[in-house]
Amino acid sequence: MAKAGEIVADVMKSLQGVITAGVMTKELEQFADERIRVLGGKSAFKGYRGYPSSICTSVNEVVVHGIPSSRKLKEGDIISIDIGVYYEGFFGDAAYTFPVGAVDPNTSKLLRVTEEALFLGIDMAVEGNRLYDISHAIQGHVEKNGFSVVRTFVGHGIGRQLHEEPQVPNFGIAGQGPRLRQGMTLAIEPMVNAGTFEVRVLDDGWTAVTQDGRRSAHFEHTVVVMPNAARILTNLS
Ligand code: MF3
Ligand code: CO
Repeated sequence: MAKAGEIVADVMKSLQGVITAGVMTKELEQFADERIRVLGGKSAFKGYRGYPSSICTSVNEVVVHGIPSSRKLKEGDIISIDIGVYYEGFFGDAAYTFPVGAVDPNTSKLLRVTEEALFLGIDMAVEGNRLYDISHAIQGHVEKNGFSVVRTFVGHGIGRQLHEEPQVPNFGIAGQGPRLRQGMTLAIEPMVNAGTFEVRVLDDGWTAVTQDGRRSAHFEHTVVVMPNAARILTNLS
């Protein structure tokens, strides 16, 4: 899982240099697909329940599961990149929302708060805590800052499958849920909307957009529960 996570992180970092105004999201996918292969992995998403692409590219009001296309990025856009990799029997999964050039102040706050919420959630992923301590930390930070957490998509256990038990919601009551044990591996992934939490799925069956058309951000890491601090397997640094 550590190796799968390393590949995810490498591809994410490499994409950062390619994300710029004028680039098509399908060019990002081609780049990522090639890099995953060079590093010895395989996309975890392509063919998963019929998903047609190697990564997800979700622009502006797209919350998650945006399908790479000939859409070109514009200055001021945001793009959430979600990458899942399979390597020798195990999975890694991460997402990061990038600004395209300069973005407006509220958008930049949305990105900052969502990433902070992810790390506050990860801080709670320690042995002895309860699962919804993670959820509660994420929700509290997001709502305190005037944004909303998506309900219809959640984080998940991960390991020999991309999606395992338990579901990891981004909202919940502290002190509730299963007890966290050392070695549990979770994909924690807040999806945060600037406006309403409500989403709808487009006719392609995948693309999830905000009901109100306002923007959405998504940050995700694959982590291992440990006694004092979780180990992040998809660390970008
Ligand atoms: N990171 C997302 C998840 O864990 C991406 C899934 S995309 C899919 O659910 F294509 F694989 F469904
Ligand atoms: Co995930």
